[in-house]
Amino acid sequence: MSTASSLYADHLATLHERAATALERGGFDHLVVPSGTPHVQVFDDREYPYAANPQFKHWLPLTRHPGCWLVVTPGQRPRLVYLQPRDYWHVVPQAPEGEWVEHFDIVVIRRPDEALKHLPRNAGRCAILGEPQSALGRYGAFRPNNPGPVLDYLDYHRAYKTPYEIEMLREATRRGVRAHRSAERAFRAGASEFGIHLAYCQAAGQDTDELPYANIVALNEHAAVLHYTEFDRLPPRPVRSFLLDAGASHAGYACDITRTHAQEPGEFQALIDAVDAAQQRMCDQVRAGTDYRQLHLDAHLALAGVLREAGLVKVSPEEAVATGVSRAFFPHGIGHGLGLQVHDVGGFAASDRGVTIPRPDGHPYLRLTRVLEPGFVVTIEPGIYFIDMLLEELRASPQAGAVDWDRVEALRPYGGIRIEDNVVCTGGDPLNLTREAFAAA
Ligand code: GLY
Ligand code: MN
Ligand code: MN
Repeated sequence: MSTASSLYADHLATLHERAATALERGGFDHLVVPSGTPHVQVFDDREYPYAANPQFKHWLPLTRHPGCWLVVTPGQRPRLVYLQPRDYWHVVPQAPEGEWVEHFDIVVIRRPDEALKHLPRNAGRCAILGEPQSALGRYGAFRPNNPGPVLDYLDYHRAYKTPYEIEMLREATRRGVRAHRSAERAFRAGASEFGIHLAYCQAAGQDTDELPYANIVALNEHAAVLHYTEFDRLPPRPVRSFLLDAGASHAGYACDITRTHAQEPGEFQALIDAVDAAQQRMCDQVRAGTDYRQLHLDAHLALAGVLREAGLVKVSPEEAVATGVSRAFFPHGIGHGLGLQVHDVGGFAASDRGVTIPRPDGHPYLRLTRVLEPGFVVTIEPGIYFIDMLLEELRASPQAGAVDWDRVEALRPYGGIRIEDNVVCTGGDPLNLTREAFAAA
């Protein structure tokens, strides 16, 4: 058996164990997971891009296969009901192939509703995880029930990535890094945001529907919009800066990478370098036992130090944090869990029984509040931005005197900076998948 296939076999063994306990918690006999169905636009016959149910793609590297069903019954081989429709309008899925095939009993069906006869008879004994419109049978009798205790258990444990999952994330990262490098070349050659986006997709070999989230391609002031997903068709003049937050997918797993570039050496490049150095120190804190909330709060202090060094802020880092000044420049969380979803589930879980860990007061956008453990994969994405709305509020507040507004005005046309890596928490030193891929590229 190759290493890859033994990793996958071990991954499945872990999922079987988790499924057995989750079912016990919920008092069910079978875990049933539809891959999902296409969604049709209102008053139209066009479909939205299909997105696979993450609970399904956790088991199978199938991301373009609506209408399939997975049935897991403890002690038995899992069953895959595989839809391969008769259809001359669209390309239909190939017959099942790949290393995963040998691990499943596979039944091929030709119509979505044929799945019903291959699912457990008694829907009441099934934890069915999916969206309401996957329901099958008369009046949708076989419908997703998404039991809380089952989901709480699975979501909590999804934070612990198997070695197979780390490999899939590493592969997604390699692809994303290749595309980032190509996008930077397009930026240096004077391309527009739209042109850079196309260069990115080309190098990633992925279309927008396949990417794990909408590309953020921001030139100049646009970098101050945290989720800027417009694409101007013409480059601005002059071009000063470039922020790219873009990922790639592999076998259903996502990477999530941000880099910021200056057009020319100078004070904006110096600020990028300072954020980059601080970011690498934060990545080094991705260690077992570290409270991610503390990492977020420490990031505020570190970035307040960068702001002070750059002469943007005149008060001590401690004071900038205590008075909320740092939040005007760094108004999002330090990161989040990463995996099958770019913002992975289970970020607030205190336990596998549905108890949650609140965010620190005054930090409403943090998406992960857990203590890190080996197997967690997180992003570390500090930023410093010049956001008009937040700066106006700050300028009208008692803290206005803490800021050198001339310095802010000088850097405002550059928009902002974010540096984002994907980091694996291990039993020892952190493994930075993004830096690893950039170093190898
Ligand atoms: N790309 C979205 C994020 O960084 O969370
Ligand atoms: Mn992110
Ligand atoms: Mn991102």
